[in-house]
Amino acid sequence: MISKAFVVLTTLLFSFNVLSTSLAFPNDPELLKRQEIEGTSSSNGGGFGAVNPPPPPGPPRFTGTKLVHDRAHPWKPLRKGDERGPCPGMNTLASHGYISRDGVASPSQMVTAVQEGLNMENQFAIFVTYLAHLMNGNLVTDLLSIGGKTRKTGPDPPPPAHAGGFNVHGTFEGDGGMTRADAFFGDNHSFNETLFQKFVDFSNQYGDGYYNLTVAGELRFQRLQDSIATNPQFSFKNVRYFTGYGESAFPINFFVDGRKTDRKLDMASARSFFKDMRFPPDFHRTPKPSSNEGIAEIFGMHPFLPGGNADGKVNNFMVDPASADFTKPCVLYEDIVKTLQGLYPNPTGVLKRNLIKNLGFLHSSLSAALGAQCDQLFPYGQL
Ligand SMILES: *[C@@H]1O[C@H](CO)[C@@H](O)[C@H](O)[C@H]1NC(C)=O
Ligand SMILES: *[C@@H]1O[C@H](CO)[C@@H](O)[C@H](O)[C@H]1NC(C)=O
Ligand SMILES: *[C@@H]1O[C@H](CO)[C@@H](O)[C@H](O)[C@H]1NC(C)=O
Repeated sequence: MISKAFVVLTTLLFSFNVLSTSLAFPNDPELLKRQEIEGTSSSNGGGFGAVNPPPPPGPPRFTGTKLVHDRAHPWKPLRKGDERGPCPGMNTLASHGYISRDGVASPSQMVTAVQEGLNMENQFAIFVTYLAHLMNGNLVTDLLSIGGKTRKTGPDPPPPAHAGGFNVHGTFEGDGGMTRADAFFGDNHSFNETLFQKFVDFSNQYGDGYYNLTVAGELRFQRLQDSIATNPQFSFKNVRYFTGYGESAFPINFFVDGRKTDRKLDMASARSFFKDMRFPPDFHRTPKPSSNEGIAEIFGMHPFLPGGNADGKVNNFMVDPASADFTKPCVLYEDIVKTLQGLYPNPTGVLKRNLIKNLGFLHSSLSAALGAQCDQLFPYGQL
């Protein structure tokens, strides 16, 4: 139901969204003037200027399959200091130069990269990227790390904001991951061979050696049961609930060669993405813009409500009725806004302006990405 609703809504609302994006960011002369002023006087001593974030990129003109492991994007091994993290898709795009190979980029560069290299649908790409940026990026310099915290994103924002990158626990990175261990066990973002072996075992058991939706549903449930039984701090709710299910569908939606039609991933390709951060040889991106298709099927196999282990005890799972779930996507938006108010209690100046702008970019993608019309919230006022 979810993905059907999603697909229908994406189609229906797509033109509406393009419209609302331009309505939300008109060519306000006041705003343009401020952009010019900033352009001539921006620098804060560390070589990092304050950036006035541009609106997110629109969809590319061509959205079919094509060779993306091409001559212009050769894979290169990591250099010292390059950032990589919990997201195999972004890791791979960085290692092929679709974003800066150091793993630090602006959200608009990341949207362009996921569209170009993986054919991610425009509004969905905007939603996930700006969500990550608002939570874990440097909003003044408009830079985000796909791995850990790095000076390459610029001077620290005032705490409790952290600009900590994708590795920060609980947003993109989170418990019950398929190839990354729970943060409780220490390393929450590196490829974990033991877990990947489980991915292979399940693909053998339920998919005849391939990762397909049946495998995804079984493995998703198994990973949650594992965490309930072993991680006293297990938490799977709000943003992580959505990214957890998304993570299960992504390998089928984005890592299967676009010339194939069978929607199942072979193990050599899976290892190439997850471990080596490398497109398989001659890899063609998926044949149409994709997002989280399949999560309804994955969820439907073993419905699981958001929650976590209570009182720091294993095998003590409690549903959290306050958390967003697939029937309450606007609660997810409200939770994101609440989290941001915790991170940025009293923003001023450029930080405040950029928060307002980035929140607007996020909201502009909500109805298409989540299939829900959520009232826009203005915790920091309007520009
Ligand atoms: C890999 O994950 C397993 C299962 O969560 C965990 O027990 C193990 O410590 C992890 N290994 C490393 C090297 O992090
Ligand atoms: C995630 O892992 C990194 C590096 O191992 C660690 O510094 C960080 O504290 C971890 N995050 C959490 C919330 O445990
Ligand atoms: C996954 O593969 C298995 C084994 O071939 C098959 O029985 C199952 O129907 C497949 N699932 C889907 C959703 O195609």
